[in-house]
Amino acid sequence: MSRLSVSELTISVTLSLILFTGTCRTKKTWPRTFSQEELKKRLSPIQFHVTQERGTESAFRGEYTDHKEEGTYSCVVCGAPLFRSETKFDSGSGWPSFYDLVKEESVTATDDFSYGMHRVEINCSQCGSHLGHLFDDGPKPTGKRYCINSASLGFQPKDAPSASSHPSSGEGAEAGAGGSSGGKIEL
Ligand SMILES: *[C@@H]1O[C@H](CO)[C@@H](O)[C@H](O)[C@H]1NC(C)=O
Ligand SMILES: [Zn+2]
Repeated sequence: MSRLSVSELTISVTLSLILFTGTCRTKKTWPRTFSQEELKKRLSPIQFHVTQERGTESAFRGEYTDHKEEGTYSCVVCGAPLFRSETKFDSGSGWPSFYDLVKEESVTATDDFSYGMHRVEINCSQCGSHLGHLFDDGPKPTGKRYCINSASLGFQPKDAPSASSHPSSGEGAEAGAGGSSGGKIEL
């Protein structure tokens, strides 16, 4: 009986995997992975910095902070739907803020002790991208505040089929000045 049977082999491989992932705390494997090379090409520098290097965009400067269109916000890296516009609120923090998720499992929360604070870091559960932080001072009904970098998000308007045909016009000009194209909702 010198040879390992298949099941013994399976057990030992499983055990070493558990030991490995248990000791290697900083690297987790995610269902979807993207090469850093590809992401560097595809993402803007701030999108790459926030999602891959745990960066934070400047407050009040992100493209979705004051964005009020109806639709769904998704992970800019893998496209997983994360937040609905219905749960977006004005927190005054300078970052897009939401009080709920599309699905509980869509993000992974971990303790973050950087900068001498205890915060809860939020990453995309599909690809592991850093999104922002979660706080407990949000509005009802959840009391949660997902404080998210615009740079980690993509947006799909409710009334548009999907990606294309959306040249993302004058983002800087807030609503109110609108009225140009008129029939946005109907048809
Ligand atoms: C979240 O993403 C950041 C940036 O890529 C990474 O440093 C961090 O380890 C991730 N968190 C977890 C729990 O993997
Ligand atoms: Zn993702």
